[in-house]
Amino acid sequence: MNQPITHSTGITPAGQTPYSAWIQTDVLHTLQNPVSHHPGEHAWITSVQVSELYWMLIIKEIRTAQAQLRKNDITQACDTLERVVAHHEPLNATWKSIAWMTPADLLSILSRAVAKYGQDTALQGWTYRQMVYLLGIKQPEHLQHFIPQPARWKQLNDTLAEPSLYDDILAFLHRAGFPIPDMTERDYRAPYIPMQAVENAWREIYADPDRYRDLRRLGETLADIAEGFSTWKHLHLMATRRTFGHRAAYFGTEGIAWLLPTLQELPFPELWAARSTMGEPPMVCPHMSRQPKGQAA
Ligand code: HEM
Repeated sequence: MNQPITHSTGITPAGQTPYSAWIQTDVLHTLQNPVSHHPGEHAWITSVQVSELYWMLIIKEIRTAQAQLRKNDITQACDTLERVVAHHEPLNATWKSIAWMTPADLLSILSRAVAKYGQDTALQGWTYRQMVYLLGIKQPEHLQHFIPQPARWKQLNDTLAEPSLYDDILAFLHRAGFPIPDMTERDYRAPYIPMQAVENAWREIYADPDRYRDLRRLGETLADIAEGFSTWKHLHLMATRRTFGHRAAYFGTEGIAWLLPTLQELPFPELWAARSTMGEPPMVCPHMSRQPKGQAA
């Protein structure tokens, strides 16, 4: 005879299963308040809420990696940062849920949202901005969007004044003996200015992978994180092209024109700059024939 399944006793509140109590499903599914009956709106709210959760997860992982770097635990820091790479995959996949919308779909939703809440911009989302600050892209001008939300303004202002992940990596490289300046006293609010000495350090690391196995792994993980971040930006731009066209957006300027320059925001700049001079130069450019024009090979 089949026995009913019983779970071990815990502190599950009355009226909940342990699963619901742990995952907070009842609360979770009250958090969508659509302004329309359009099928795209539930997809939109779900995609954005999932993105919010992933940005917070990435923030937590970056903070963990920073603490590990400060203890000179590069192996643990790499493990943590590899999870940041993994989290970008589902984050970037969220675009699939809404990329099918046409301008008519999106605008019918947005016009109702504007009527209910007022004109908004995703620049008012603090999780994305905190992640961007922690990646080392410090743009104090974005703080202005949080003036109506003082607790979040303070949180972002504090993050702006703290070392970013890249600041912690440079401090680690300095402690490891690379001839780069000690930056621990720098004004972390100021945008980071790339340095030749840091570019040289990355080149040295990649030139001797046996000696610098862990640091090379760190560099490649950072490159993967930057790629995941840039991919999100590209997918956002393409979704804007598809659903919005060249309309004026929040600032009254064309949304695409506003977004395009932000694609240049690439974290860990010297890691990329160093790639122009890494490796042995070939005797001739690999794209050129070794034979002078007109002679058979
Ligand atoms: C698919 C329709 C979308 C359109 C047409 C659109 C449009 C725009 C535009 C024009 C901007 C520039 C700032 C402004 O004028 O407000 C912007 C910024 C932004 N949007 Fe969207 N967006 C869309 C979807 C989303 C979604 C689904 C998310 C979140 C998951 C999002 C997050 C952001 C963020 C974080 C920024 C700031 C980007 C940066 O600073 O580089 N957007 N968006």
